[in-house]
Amino acid sequence: MKQQLTQKFEKVFGDAEDTKVYFAPGRVNLIGEHTDYNGGHVFPCALTIGTYAVARKNSDGVMRFYSMNFEKMGVVTVPAKDFANNPTDDWCNYPKGVMWAFSQKGYEITSGLDILYFGNIPNGSGLSSSASIEVLTGFILMDLFGFDVDMIQNALFCQYSENQFNGVNCGIMDQFAIAMGKKDHAIFLDTADLSYEYAPISLEGAKLVIACSNKKRGLGDSKYNERRSQCEEALADLRRVVDIKNLGDLTEEQFEQYRSAIKDPVCAVRAKHAVYENQRTIKAVAALKAGDIQTFGQLMNASHVSLRDDYEVTGVELDTLVETAWEQEGVIGSRMTGAGFGGCTVSIVRDEAVDSFIKNVGDAYKEKIGYAADFYVVRIGDGPRVI
Ligand code: GLA
Repeated sequence: MKQQLTQKFEKVFGDAEDTKVYFAPGRVNLIGEHTDYNGGHVFPCALTIGTYAVARKNSDGVMRFYSMNFEKMGVVTVPAKDFANNPTDDWCNYPKGVMWAFSQKGYEITSGLDILYFGNIPNGSGLSSSASIEVLTGFILMDLFGFDVDMIQNALFCQYSENQFNGVNCGIMDQFAIAMGKKDHAIFLDTADLSYEYAPISLEGAKLVIACSNKKRGLGDSKYNERRSQCEEALADLRRVVDIKNLGDLTEEQFEQYRSAIKDPVCAVRAKHAVYENQRTIKAVAALKAGDIQTFGQLMNASHVSLRDDYEVTGVELDTLVETAWEQEGVIGSRMTGAGFGGCTVSIVRDEAVDSFIKNVGDAYKEKIGYAADFYVVRIGDGPRVI
């Protein structure tokens, strides 16, 4: 892979002198969805698939970007200072945003860069291809300019960039999961204070299977921001009757006790999801630690129901994948993962049932939706690195 990427760099940029090759993973969230901007818990893990980059400094005062996933765009060249979001730069607004964020935070980028990217995460699938590009770019800046920034700061700068430069009010989960990824472990992160713990995932006799709906998110970003403001509205109402900082501070019982303070009934069900999902995540990690994978699976299923009925971010594609998965032998748990509105599902499937799972769920999906889903049996990998 390293050699192929370097050769491609040479073709695109003329020579490959002084280049280094980097990798950052994608992520999948096992449970804890739409809790990260509500001060709740999440439980994601980094994957072995992700984004590669070949990079070097240049002395031309420009940033040159090239993606093997968007070859038709060719090399995109922008000044190495005064970064601005320009819709025609398309995917390059992610790396540009990270460079902008580092400069905003006082880390001066003193020269231009030539960077070639290649990702093997399906685009727009909800496995965080964009956060992977962001964290990878931050990691390249840290390495090439020797910035004294740790991986959690890198994640925070990338989130800042996505919020302020790309206009998506995302939480910290994706960037954190990618920056802090650890092979065969998921990260139990409390987004209220960024305290975290690694939990080993040894799915004895079972595998993680991702099903990609191939439905592009489309209006997802604006609906995402809308969900976020509905939670904020509910929180503001609740704070008039109870002293809390985040929805994640409440147990289910406390939520039911104060629920009537939330004026808008839609905001009330959105908040209900955030509170219950946070508690489910805490329970799921406890079950996993106790070796009770069945309970973990049931909590995954309950998470999907809540995302479908209360948070309303699933849609017919994700519901078909998950509901058909539930009917299959050997499925321990199945749910949508990521922001929703399209994207992927994650299922824990017994080894011997994986083939029939892929066939049966794939057939049912094609029959009902009219086009095919893609399936990936994934492994949990490490965070960013030089390769
Ligand atoms: C997207 C966001 C995350 C998180 C999830 C939903 O992936 O980037 O911050 O909010 O949606 O859990």
